[in-house]
Amino acid sequence: MFSGKLRFLLMIAFMLFEQTGDDGVRYSFIAEWFDNESQTLRKFYLMYFTADDTVELFDIKNNNTFLKRTKCEGISAKDIYIGAIITIFSRQMNIADFADNFTREKFGKTLQKTFGMLKPDVADKYGEILKMIYANDFKITKLKMARLTKEQAQEFYKEHEGKPFLPFLVEFMTSGPVLAMELVAENGIAKWRETIGPTDSEVARTSAPESVRAKYGKDKSYNAVHGSDSVEAAERELSIFFPASSRDLDGKMTPKTTATFKNCTCCVIKPHAVQEGLLGDIIYEIQKSGFRITGMQMFYMDYPNAEEFYEVYKGVVPECTAMVSQLVSGPCVALEIVSDTPDTPSKFRALVGPPEPDRARELRPNTLRAKFGKTKVLNAIHCSDLPEDGLLEVEYFFKILS
Ligand code: RTP
Ligand code: MG
Repeated sequence: MFSGKLRFLLMIAFMLFEQTGDDGVRYSFIAEWFDNESQTLRKFYLMYFTADDTVELFDIKNNNTFLKRTKCEGISAKDIYIGAIITIFSRQMNIADFADNFTREKFGKTLQKTFGMLKPDVADKYGEILKMIYANDFKITKLKMARLTKEQAQEFYKEHEGKPFLPFLVEFMTSGPVLAMELVAENGIAKWRETIGPTDSEVARTSAPESVRAKYGKDKSYNAVHGSDSVEAAERELSIFFPASSRDLDGKMTPKTTATFKNCTCCVIKPHAVQEGLLGDIIYEIQKSGFRITGMQMFYMDYPNAEEFYEVYKGVVPECTAMVSQLVSGPCVALEIVSDTPDTPSKFRALVGPPEPDRARELRPNTLRAKFGKTKVLNAIHCSDLPEDGLLEVEYFFKILS
């Protein structure tokens, strides 16, 4: 169709187009956003510029620029992959596909999702194991603490039907909570299998001493973690815990939350702290301080929900608008916290510390906000204010939003 010379010029023009002229490159994706107002799925080209972490949105159907090149809180190259949900000015966009070959080649080959699960034998080691997960360069994109029924455990391990160890495995997997996760990394499936080590923890201690099973497993049965062994298994296992649609569910129930709604308080690890990879460090501190985590889930809050959640601060706390923006800027993790005494909310508040991290570092250097907070808005943790709010906030996340 084109002459050789014209084709060459077009190729050069195309290549130049990928370069943004400011020492960076431009990646293009197809992003989808469900517009509640018009009840339509709207499609955009999402351009991401590496030079300054800016994004631009182009409305495909209306053929016009929807958002001029702008900086968005909480978005960087590592947050964008196929299937990611990213928040752009309080709109949650699903990255559906690559929009050009350049982007496909750069992103396409490597990033892969897998399903990881911490088994009931390590419920008090979540902090340590999550720290290992981040140290191995995984991103946690979905997370839910749940309890499997016997039927669900049998369904999950249906590949082992008829094997002698299955009844025992089902008993073990239903004996306590599991922590289900979607993990994303370069060659995620193989990498996670390598990170957890061989099935038998005793073997792991000699052949892979740095692996999760070597460190936290006991033997061949109580081996701390699970990892999908193929693309098909990852998809199937993810859909059991994180069904994308009712078709995924196929009439079955997803494993239920473990939240107890008793003598509890609510802790929310804010998006900036999740994005900085601090989830493991924060949970480690909470568990080390003698609190028990009885419910945990990652949420992608939308604007109306975040406003509703911070309703009581409206007009009282000057940073309220910024707090809402922070809460919708990426995934947050809500926890139900319990302790052995009846005053969990006030005891937990003492561990969290003063709202301003700088003040916290001065007055209460051992508190969570002193260790992980940056500013009053980016103070890493929200915790329930009044004792009676504890249960209400836990119910908000684990009954209403869940
Ligand atoms: P997983 O599925 O949990 O990631 O473990 P895996 O692939 O390394 O091992 P697999 O052969 O799929 O076995 C599933 C789980 O069953 C328990 N098991 N017990 N006592 C035994 O002989 C025995 N063999 C396996 C383990 O908990 C194993 O992780
Ligand atoms: Mg297996």
